[in-house]
Amino acid sequence: MPSRTDSPLQVAIIGAGLGGLAAAVSLRRQGHAVTVYERYDFAGEVGASLSAASNGSRFLEEWGVDVKAAKPVILKQLIMHNWSDGEVQSTYPLGDYKSKFGTDYNNFHRIDIHKQLLKSAFEEPGEGPACVLKVNHKATEVDHDQGIIRFENGVETSADLIVAADGIRSLTRDLIGIVPDFEMSTSCCYRCIIGADKLRSLGLDDYISNEAIEYWGGFGINKIVMSPCSNGEVVSCYCFYPASVNNLREDGWNIAASPQQLVDTFPDLDPRMKTLMLNSEDIKMWRLYRHQPYPYWVKGKVCLLGDAAHPMMPDQSQGSCMAFEDAGALGIVFNKNFRENYSVSEGLALYEKLRKPRATRVQEASFRARENLNERIGWSSSADQSGKLTIEEVCGYNMRDHLAELMAGGN
Ligand SMILES: Cc1cc2nc3c(=O)[nH]c(=O)nc-3n(C[C@H](O)[C@H](O)[C@H](O)COP(=O)(O)OP(=O)(O)OC[C@H]3O[C@@H](n4cnc5c(N)ncnc54)[C@H](O)[C@@H]3O)c2cc1C
Ligand SMILES: *[C@@H]1O[C@H](CO)[C@@H](O)[C@H](O)[C@H]1NC(C)=O
Ligand SMILES: *[C@@H]1O[C@H](CO)[C@@H](O)[C@H](O)[C@H]1NC(C)=O
Ligand SMILES: *[C@@H]1O[C@H](CO)[C@@H](O)[C@H](O)[C@H]1NC(C)=O
Repeated sequence: MPSRTDSPLQVAIIGAGLGGLAAAVSLRRQGHAVTVYERYDFAGEVGASLSAASNGSRFLEEWGVDVKAAKPVILKQLIMHNWSDGEVQSTYPLGDYKSKFGTDYNNFHRIDIHKQLLKSAFEEPGEGPACVLKVNHKATEVDHDQGIIRFENGVETSADLIVAADGIRSLTRDLIGIVPDFEMSTSCCYRCIIGADKLRSLGLDDYISNEAIEYWGGFGINKIVMSPCSNGEVVSCYCFYPASVNNLREDGWNIAASPQQLVDTFPDLDPRMKTLMLNSEDIKMWRLYRHQPYPYWVKGKVCLLGDAAHPMMPDQSQGSCMAFEDAGALGIVFNKNFRENYSVSEGLALYEKLRKPRATRVQEASFRARENLNERIGWSSSADQSGKLTIEEVCGYNMRDHLAELMAGGN
C-alpha cells in the first residue's frame, strides 16, 4: 500500500483557555482528531479585556471564527493621560492599521472571544472534524515518550501529539522536566469593569467614546490601562500598583476586592478615574510573576503553548495574541500533508524553532514595558533606542515566510 501523507493525528490538548481552544480550531481545520481536556467546567469564568493585534486577529479570521459575534471594539488610537489630573498628554493614532497589517486591532472581552472559540472548535459546521470537549478532566500525569495522559478522575488516554495549554502554572511543564525560574513581580494588578451606561450617568462619557487604549501613569509601577470592549458596552481597566501595598500572597484570577480597596490604592490619581473605580464591578486582584524563558518547549510527543510556554507581563497586551500565534503555528506545521516533508517529532522541533525566539522577544519586551510605557509597542519606536519591540515587528510578521526560511536551513 502506498504510504499516505494525509493521515490525521490523534491530538490531545490539555486546557481549554484561549490558547488551547485556538489550537483545537487550528488543528481541526487540518483534519486532525482533536480532544480538549479541561479541569473545570467554565462555571466560574472571569476576565476583562484582551486585545488581539494583527497577526492574532489574522488567524481568528483565517480560521473562520465569528469575530463580529465576539463584539470587538476596533482600536483606533493610544492615549496617554496625566496621572493626577487626567489631562491628555499625547496620542498615538493607529492610523490605517487594517490596510497596513491586514486586520483590525480588535479589543475583546475575554468571555466573548472564549465563547466564539468554543463554537469554532466543537460545533458543526466547520472545516475538519469537530473537536471533542471533556470538562472536569484534570491532567495529573503525562508520559511524554508514550503520549499518555492520566486524569484525576481515573481516565487515561493516549495521543500522537499532546498540546499543553494549561496556563501559567502548567503542571505538564513540570512533568516534562522544566523547573521554571521565576519570581514574584514587585507589581500587582487589579482588574475591573464598568458598564457604558453607568459611565454616562456619571458624566464620564469621554471615557467610552475614544476607541482607544488609554493610559494613566506607566513610568514606574503605577499604571492604569483602560479600554472598551463588548461593542463598546463595557469598559475594562487594569490597575497596576506596588505589590508591597497589600503584600498579596494569594494566587489566581478570581480574588475579589472592593471598590474602596481599589480606589485607596491610588490616593493621588485623577479624581474622575477614581469616580470610575468607585462605581466599577467585578474587581479582581491578579498577582504577577516574572518567568525567565524556559530551556525548551518540546519533549517527546508534548509541546507547550500559550502561557504554559511563555507567561508574560500584561504590559504589551500580547498574551492572548502570542497564544493565537502558537496555535496558528501548529496548524501550519502540522498541515494536512506535513508527512511529505517531516515526522511529528521533526514538526515539533520546527514549532519550537518558529515560535520560541519571537515569543521570548515579546515576553522580554513585556517585562521592560512593565515600568516604562515608552517600551510599549505604539509608544515605542526603534528610532529612539535600537532593539525596542515595535508595532511593525509584531504586526508585520509573516509566519509562513519564516517557516519556509527555517526549512531552508536559516533562522
Ligand atoms: C479565568 C481566566 C481569566 C483571565 N482573564 C484575563 C484577563 O482579564 N486579561 C488578560 O489579559 N488575560 C486574562 N487571562 C489570561 C489569558 O487568557 C492568557 O494569558 C492567554 O489567553 C493565554 O491563555 P492560555 O490558554 O495559554 O492559558 P489560560 O487562559 O490560563 O488557560 C489555561 C487553561 O488550562 C486549564 N488547566 C490548567 N491546568 C490543567 C490541568 N492540569 N488539566 C486540565 N486543564 C487544566 C485551566 O483551567 C484553563 O482553562 C485569564 C485567564 C484565565 C484562565
Ligand atoms: C500633571 O498634572 C499635574 C497637576 O495638574 C501637574 O502638576 C503636572 O505638571 C502634570 N504633569 C505633566 C507631565 O504634565
Ligand atoms: C501577518 O501579517 C502580515 C502583514 O499583513 C502578513 O503578510 C502575514 O501573512 C500575516 N501572517 C499570518 C501568519 O497570517
Ligand atoms: C514540502 O516542502 C516543499 C519544499 O519546501 C514544499 O513546496 C511543500 O509545500 C511542502 N509540503 C507541505 C505539505 O508542506
